[in-house]
Amino acid sequence: MEEKKTIFSGIQPTGCITLGNYLGALKNWVDLQNDYNCIFSVVDLHSITVRQNPAELRKRCMDFLCQYLAAGINGEDNIVFFQSHASTHAELSWILNCFTYMGELSRMTQFKDKSAKHEDNINAGLFTYPVLMAADILLYQTDLVPVGVDQKQHLELCRDIANRFNNIYGDVFTIPEGFIPKEGARIMSLQDPTSKMSKSDPNVNGFISILDDTDTIMRKFKKAVTDSEGEIAYREGKSGINNLINIYSGITGKTPDEVVAEFAGKGYGDFKMAVGEVVADELKPIREKYDDLRKNKDYLETIYKTGAERAYRISNKTLSKVKRKVGFVDRPF
Ligand code: TRP
Repeated sequence: MEEKKTIFSGIQPTGCITLGNYLGALKNWVDLQNDYNCIFSVVDLHSITVRQNPAELRKRCMDFLCQYLAAGINGEDNIVFFQSHASTHAELSWILNCFTYMGELSRMTQFKDKSAKHEDNINAGLFTYPVLMAADILLYQTDLVPVGVDQKQHLELCRDIANRFNNIYGDVFTIPEGFIPKEGARIMSLQDPTSKMSKSDPNVNGFISILDDTDTIMRKFKKAVTDSEGEIAYREGKSGINNLINIYSGITGKTPDEVVAEFAGKGYGDFKMAVGEVVADELKPIREKYDDLRKNKDYLETIYKTGAERAYRISNKTLSKVKRKVGFVDRPF
């Protein structure tokens, strides 16, 4: 039998897991998990590039891990762990920093956006964030990285760093491919459909958390911003309706054209309610499973502990090889 390929992905434990994260990443992880060796991380190291309240961060990390499992990630067959529990990530990140150019990092749009948003705290971690992400991916000789479209640039940089390293030292890293939903699948804010649905949006009506209850979901969809044309069509300039079509399509697996045909002649009000309903139906079992699992501290601990042990073992193989290649003396213990 051919060996399974490896997937690595992660979500930062900031804000909440939104419908955008779910359709852009998490749902794909669930769909892919049986065909690949999967490693899913709660990337806590990344989250402190923005100031966090310690007690809230600690709780949120557990909430996120639990949401991965509630969404259908099998934490026993796959590796599910907290990034900070495998010290290999921070270590490789340092080494790769020395193979990454300031110019490359300055071009990252997420850095530009985040530094504009957090003008009072443009720290070096925010700048080198994509290098840590590259370390995450390369440590596991990852073949495929399922992420949202907004991470495409970071993934390209990861490939560049890996190729650069391989060109100097021989084949050390597998060059990863992205598994990225097409541009249309980018889920936008329900309140401002020209910007991405963001977990840190101060307007809670702009995003759906995967833990929102049915009433909240329906209310947010009812308030969703559309346009004044009154026609359900998928075309440029109709960002609100396009977004609703994309959401419906992402949940049901129908193409945007099929969605348009299904709702031909219907009003926006009915369409919004229909989208709200498929979303609420999809998320309800996740929320119920979450409520159940979240109380089970021992189970969660077993998952993240075995996850970290396995992650460390695998990643340390790559890290040791890297250290040898760059010329460090072998560790005597
Ligand atoms: N930067 C990613 C995001 O914001 C999160 C992330 C960190 C990640 N490390 C990763 C995603 C490794 C995929 C693989 O969404």
